Amino acid sequence: MDIREVAVVGSGTMGNGIAHVFALNGFDVLLIDIREEYLKTAVQTIEKNLEGQVKKENITQKQASKTFSRINTSISLEDCREVDFLLEAVNEDLKIMKDVLVLLDKICKPQTIFATNTSSMSITDLATSTSRPEKFIGMHFMNPVPVMKLVELIRGIATSPDTIEQVFDLSRKLQKVPVEVHDFPGFISNRLLMPMINEAIFCLMEGVFSKESIDTVMKLGMAHPMGPLELADFIGLDVCLAIMEVLYSGFKDSKYRPCPVLVNMVAAGFLGCKTGKGFYDCKK
Ligand code: CAA
Repeated sequence: MDIREVAVVGSGTMGNGIAHVFALNGFDVLLIDIREEYLKTAVQTIEKNLEGQVKKENITQKQASKTFSRINTSISLEDCREVDFLLEAVNEDLKIMKDVLVLLDKICKPQTIFATNTSSMSITDLATSTSRPEKFIGMHFMNPVPVMKLVELIRGIATSPDTIEQVFDLSRKLQKVPVEVHDFPGFISNRLLMPMINEAIFCLMEGVFSKESIDTVMKLGMAHPMGPLELADFIGLDVCLAIMEVLYSGFKDSKYRPCPVLVNMVAAGFLGCKTGKGFYDCKK
């Protein structure tokens, strides 16, 4: 099947970045969310990021305008009827994700490939919410989506070789580098990244030294673009905690227990850059 029309369901940080990348690479994109105001914010973010790319001379003004014109928005899932490819990027809440997938499965044509941008949850399990597990795949982008080259492609137990091949091909058209991964909690990216972030929080809790020192060691010693605590703020502490919980319950191994400081910060609403307060005070 020739993939032309794409729907991205969920217009948050990941959803709007994914819509941006599809549109920039010539796809018609329908961006869906439950409220007009969320879509307005998403569209403003895309516009700002495109302007930034023009300023840095990574793309031309004409490319930016064309990209922008390829993105339509809607608050109705019914508008996904004719899309060839659907990417779910709603909140990382298993019940919400499954409820949305059940509805979309009834609306979309049988040929439509379904992908989820979940950062850690079971693709095999999510696929059971649809009548098309062979056409269901994990397509995990990294933040900021327009910048990061990687996309993890996660095959569920029932994902067909044809679906994997089509989504590999699609990833390359998006100028991303696809890496295939089997369906284990956290895949590769978050099974490695989150325990590192969690351990950095333990270091802070135990007084190994300051947050600045922890981040500097990893930036200057390991050439990471951001230190683990800075990165945790960037990703969102709620997202970090949710992923640690998926790892902990998926492997039943105490090495994945979330640090109590992380749990407390999330309970207090200190979620990182999205709330302006995390390990650091960041601009909202
Ligand atoms: N849209 C488009 N372009 C963007 C952008 C955006 N949202 N954000 C940054 N850029 C571009 C900038 O224009 C700039 O372009 P040039 O190289 O052409 O100049 C480039 O990215 C670098 O940006 P900046 O100069 O503003 O800032 P920086 O050098 O400090 O880099 C960063 C910012 C790219 C975010 C960098 O700090 C970085 O790579 N951080 C680590 C990010 C990371 O680890 N992401 C993965 C998180 S984990 C995840 O996403 C998965 C999960 O499931 C949790």
